[in-house]
Amino acid sequence: MAFVPTERLHRGAEAEVWAGTWMGQDAVRKLRRPRKWRHPDLDIRLGYRRMMSESRLLIRLKRRGLNVPAVWDLDPKSGRMILERMPGLPLIEILRNKEFSQDFIRMALRNTGSLIRRLHREAITHGDLSTNNILVDENAEPSLIDFGLAAIDYEIERFGIDLHVIDEILGASHPEHTHAIEVLLEGYSSEEERLGAPPEQSGGAVPTASSVLKRLEEVRSRVRYHG
Ligand SMILES: Nc1ncnc2c1ncn2[C@@H]1O[C@H](COP(=O)(O)OP(=O)(O)O)[C@@H](O)[C@H]1O
Ligand SMILES: [Mg+2]
Repeated sequence: MAFVPTERLHRGAEAEVWAGTWMGQDAVRKLRRPRKWRHPDLDIRLGYRRMMSESRLLIRLKRRGLNVPAVWDLDPKSGRMILERMPGLPLIEILRNKEFSQDFIRMALRNTGSLIRRLHREAITHGDLSTNNILVDENAEPSLIDFGLAAIDYEIERFGIDLHVIDEILGASHPEHTHAIEVLLEGYSSEEERLGAPPEQSGGAVPTASSVLKRLEEVRSRVRYHG
């Protein structure tokens, strides 16, 4: 792997991410860290499966024209993946930084909603839609990263949960942006109006945008009721 590291971007419980270059292009290297509390054999199997699944879904989405990193190299046995480095800052930082205008933030949120709908139309749920896993570039164009928990799905529940995760995070971590989720959901439905009814996928029919929004309401009231 001809990856030349320059700086460490992230060190979490599950992965370490370095920025650098690969064949002269801006890249990141994602290294899965072993988890001490799991049995090593199980850990390797789980890590292998997750990395295979993450890269398979990324390749599929990239081919369909979505803003996700290209997969340039993969060594699942040692838990290493080389990805295209996506431009921009995590949405969490954009929302915290006072320098961005309200217009820019609205546009970023709206575009993020549209991109999530395009993801869902491919029958893929993300599984971890936090404001750390959405990067936004200088034109307020988002990309999605971190597909380790993503899955191909036709059941409406996980689509609703995807929206509920970002809903909760926008409410809890960024309460000063009072209409953030509404703007994002506007982008989510308007994308469906723009593109028409979702195409049939090989595994069946994808839930429509309006049915996912209805499910989000149900998840919200379930959570309110049960705490
Ligand atoms: N393709 C990428 N382009 C730019 N930054 C990235 C990319 N992949 C990861 N990062 C950075 O590294 C961080 C952690 O990567 P992520 O894939 O989310 O790992 P984890 O599973 O540990 O959350 C991200 O929040 C982002 O800041
Ligand atoms: Mg992440």
